[in-house]
Amino acid sequence: MLRHNLLLPVSTGNLLIETLPPIAERETLLSLIIPTYQERNSIAKIVPLLTSQLDRLIPNDYELIIVDDNSPDRTWAVAQDLTLQYPQLRVLRRTNERGLATAVVRGWQAARGQILGVIDADLQHPPEVLGQLWQAIESGADLAIASRNMDGGGVSEWSLLRRCLSRGAQILGLAILPESIGRVTDPMSGYFLLRRETIAGKVLSPLGYKILIEVIDRGEIGKIIEVGYEFQERQAGTSKVTWRQYIEYIQHLFRLRLARSGRFLRFIAVGLSGLVVDMSLLYLFSDAYTLALPITLSKILAGESAIINNFLWNDRWTFADLARTQTSNRQKFRRFLKFNLICSIGLTLNLAILHLIYNFVIHDRYIANLISIASVTCLNYWLNLKLSWRITDHRH
Ligand code: GDD
Ligand code: MN
Repeated sequence: MLRHNLLLPVSTGNLLIETLPPIAERETLLSLIIPTYQERNSIAKIVPLLTSQLDRLIPNDYELIIVDDNSPDRTWAVAQDLTLQYPQLRVLRRTNERGLATAVVRGWQAARGQILGVIDADLQHPPEVLGQLWQAIESGADLAIASRNMDGGGVSEWSLLRRCLSRGAQILGLAILPESIGRVTDPMSGYFLLRRETIAGKVLSPLGYKILIEVIDRGEIGKIIEVGYEFQERQAGTSKVTWRQYIEYIQHLFRLRLARSGRFLRFIAVGLSGLVVDMSLLYLFSDAYTLALPITLSKILAGESAIINNFLWNDRWTFADLARTQTSNRQKFRRFLKFNLICSIGLTLNLAILHLIYNFVIHDRYIANLISIASVTCLNYWLNLKLSWRITDHRH
């Protein structure tokens, strides 16, 4: 007897991708999300095309996941009927949230694959390109993007206005978020594959249409490969883009910018509290009128106290979002050890820079100290972000 695949449950709460799919679920290689809104005619075309592509590429090792936002044309019901013929197709019907970018993340949360991907339903993204994207991943890319701005890429019949808007949006993105937008030629692409581990454990918070910029900015993406493709004209249905998506795109850029700068400011605030701890304890331990301990011992005690103070604040506040995914005492202790190690490197460097500046640039120990602390803080921040609070432990 033939049976529909049941609708999949939709995750709620944080937009967080698990490291591994839930144990009970069989793992697959590739999970490709197809977000839909009012696409009942398109999905009947794209599902067979993607299936024949993937049956050649990775037979039995993929799933297609349609995430429909409760379309009035009942796209989700049409999709569910398709599962009779295409058992590798799974369907989510979302009723509590809306929007392209979050739909994609909800799809990834239901995914069983180690490689996650997304493609538009309306055939504006040619399914043939999937082969090249897959090849890119196999050759070691963390992220493989179909790009309109690479050799062999383009937009078919766009008006001058639309081209300008698209380029303008990209230039704006470069101005606000250069470190991420600058890594790719088509940051607006909605057609890409990536390795699950690059975004596992990160709380995503996308807004509007552009899931790729969220992934590049918040993920830990090493190698990126882009593949040129021609953005096709729509065959059926209509685009859902309005002015609202342009506004949301700009909001999204600022949100990502703030998330980065906000963290750095919190790190500085914690650092200042550490400075107060360090100075007062140094006075308490070493001053002739207080405990009068030797200066080196005093400095070590004061410095270590400041390090503990800073660690506790950073773990609870500055890097709280990263720490939340690894809460056992063992994991916490490991973060503390790394933090301590990095801070002692920082301290040594601090002394070296201080002496350099004091002897060769400005003969004022307080100014020299301040400059060296400032420069070491940047290094400290970067190393701690990359090492102490980095989620590396994927196997537990
Ligand atoms: N679930 C869900 N919810 N899907 C949506 C929503 C939504 O709110 N809005 C749009 N979609 C689906 C559409 O049904 C379609 O499959 C896909 O997302 C893209 O939407 P379009 O409205 O067709 O977008 P577009 O063609 O104008 O814009 C595209 O521009 C880029 C060009 O590189 C984007 O879709 C990008 O993905 C694309 O790469
Ligand atoms: Mn489209």
